[in-house]
Amino acid sequence: MTQSLLQDIKVTKTENSKISQVDFNNLSFGSTFSDHMLVCDYKNGTWEAPEVIPYQPISLDPSSKIFHYGQSIFEGMKAYKDENGDVFLFRPLDNFKRLNISAKRLAIPELPEAFFMEGLKTLLEVDKNWIPTTQGSSLYIRPFVFASGKGFHASPADAYKFIIATAPSGSYFAGKVKVLIEEKYSRSANGGVGYAKAGGNYAGQFYPTQLAVAKGYNQVIWTDDNKHEYIEEAGAMNIFVRINDSLLTAPTNDRILDGITRKSIIEIAKQEGINVEVRPISVTEVVNAAKNGSLKEMFGAGTAAVISPISVFGYQGTDYTLPELDNDYASSLKKRITDIQYNRSEDPFGWRIKL
Ligand code: PLP
Ligand code: COI
Repeated sequence: MTQSLLQDIKVTKTENSKISQVDFNNLSFGSTFSDHMLVCDYKNGTWEAPEVIPYQPISLDPSSKIFHYGQSIFEGMKAYKDENGDVFLFRPLDNFKRLNISAKRLAIPELPEAFFMEGLKTLLEVDKNWIPTTQGSSLYIRPFVFASGKGFHASPADAYKFIIATAPSGSYFAGKVKVLIEEKYSRSANGGVGYAKAGGNYAGQFYPTQLAVAKGYNQVIWTDDNKHEYIEEAGAMNIFVRINDSLLTAPTNDRILDGITRKSIIEIAKQEGINVEVRPISVTEVVNAAKNGSLKEMFGAGTAAVISPISVFGYQGTDYTLPELDNDYASSLKKRITDIQYNRSEDPFGWRIKL
């Protein structure tokens, strides 16, 4: 069946919905995919009209530059359903802008705003029933762009695909997170692509993260590539550290992703009257604070991770255990941000967008 929901976006619906096979009470993260996807091609110097089609494999030439030179970027966002069945997005324009920041750095043609925003809204309208209502779940949205153009010449491709796929998802981490502060490997360097959401940034983390996982940790906390003296961010989230009553997070730079959750948490915490310090955080400061008892909390912040409390951090062969607090910032900040996202509270910041 073919119909047009929005003026310019062609929709072809599947005749074989998979929704009845999904157990919405037992969702893992990002492993079950909704019925439809948005696809949009860049050819002959222009982005062609996006279309919504049934979720399906894509066919690519073996010489497509994505396979050889890694021209690939993505975003991570979520759609939330409230108890009335209304659907909301959280700061979606920020994701759109960041996708184009990444595109520019990877020499990928930037996308028009309407293709992203209207395309996303059309896709969500079509797959509205896939947005979970079970506690803590949401529809994870993965917009991505990659080089489909052919050729072994090491230069930007002449063709790209923009796709949005979605996945009803539960929590990213099963429980509290154990992190290892990295002393050898680097995620990114000055002048590099660390601030972009480039696929290669994640590929480069996998090996050091495997080493950390083999030692019993869940994630690596990356440190500066120069001397590994300062805490930067984790594999899939920005990092906050609470020392006494102050909440610290590293300033974003060339090497750190400008997380939308991070900047929202900074604003919410300030509104709550918490002293927020955006400044370099040395590993020595954190280790000393752990030793003298002033280190109260560490947590990660990201779309997939939401706010994920850290229970233990490892550094130079020693594990430091974070205390269990009754009035922790992580829980209250998580409540504030998810109440806004799921339309359970006022949104004084104007971040929530109704579909
Ligand atoms: N840092 C990295 C490396 C990430 O992959 C993510 C996830 O998107 C974040 C930080 C958090 O960013 P956001 O809050 O925009 O999801
Ligand atoms: C997100 O939080 O949306 C991300 O992109 C992290 C991802 C690596 C799961």
